[in-house]
Amino acid sequence: MNKTIVVTGAGRGLGYNIAMLHLEMKDHVYAYDYALTDELKHLEEGTDLLRIQQCDIAVTDSVVNAMQEVLENGKQIDILYNVAGVFSYKEKVGLAETDLDMCTSMYNINAVGALRVCKAALPLLSSGTVIINISSEAGSIGNCWREQEYSYCMSKAALNMGSKIMSNEFSKRAVRVLNFHPGWMRTAMGGQPAMESSNSVSPEESARDIVKIALEIDKIPKDQLYMEHTGKPLPW
Ligand SMILES: NC(=O)c1ccc[n+]([C@@H]2O[C@H](COP(=O)([O-])OP(=O)(O)OC[C@H]3O[C@@H](n4cnc5c(N)ncnc54)[C@H](OP(=O)(O)O)[C@@H]3O)[C@@H](O)[C@H]2O)c1
Repeated sequence: MNKTIVVTGAGRGLGYNIAMLHLEMKDHVYAYDYALTDELKHLEEGTDLLRIQQCDIAVTDSVVNAMQEVLENGKQIDILYNVAGVFSYKEKVGLAETDLDMCTSMYNINAVGALRVCKAALPLLSSGTVIINISSEAGSIGNCWREQEYSYCMSKAALNMGSKIMSNEFSKRAVRVLNFHPGWMRTAMGGQPAMESSNSVSPEESARDIVKIALEIDKIPKDQLYMEHTGKPLPW
């Protein structure tokens, strides 16, 4: 049966590729992005399966407005992908040069954004719904090796905590919550270094891995919440 899918950050990169995969499977896709790209607009013109909405996950009213159509449709959300996120190359400095005021806006998007979307979608999250939060290995405290990128790492660690609490709360309604590191991707965020590295992954490949796991959720142990796109567990 066709699934109902919600994807944030769907304008490019990983989110776009996740939306494309579900459209290929003939699922109904609600694709949200900060600025609607021409690619998304073009895609929507060619199919009844895709609905696109401008949505700034940093702003509660914007998220609530964007979710309105899904709520009116009334169908349970099968998979909710919280992909939207930001990074700044200005962060590649030590504490002395770090603009700490940036922490607040990055935290608001990367950590609180996913929770805003889940909160707005609450009436449609029920037994069998899977929530996929795109975190990063940068949010792992156990694996942390960096001496820079304070805001990004702290925001993803905070997202991990938010996901764990949602997982505890939502287990009563049989909703699963998983957090992924999608790999170092050849996207705008991965930048030129990722484009030139043999250690990076394409957003197409990462999307395929993550969608496969979301569709085969029963293969993932209930206590495994944080993992690579390949399914390999990560330490909190
Ligand atoms: N790329 C990597 O190597 C890497 C590694 C680890 C984790 N991640 C995580 O993976 C996710 C996807 O990354 P990506 O590489 O695909 O990034 P990307 O190419 O930069 O795409 C990010 C998407 O999020 C959207 N977005 C940003 N702020 C938003 C907001 N406030 N409201 C709504 N949408 C917003 C962007 O919209 P606009 O285009 O309008 O700005 C863009 O479509 C992110 O959460 C990122 O932190 C990426």
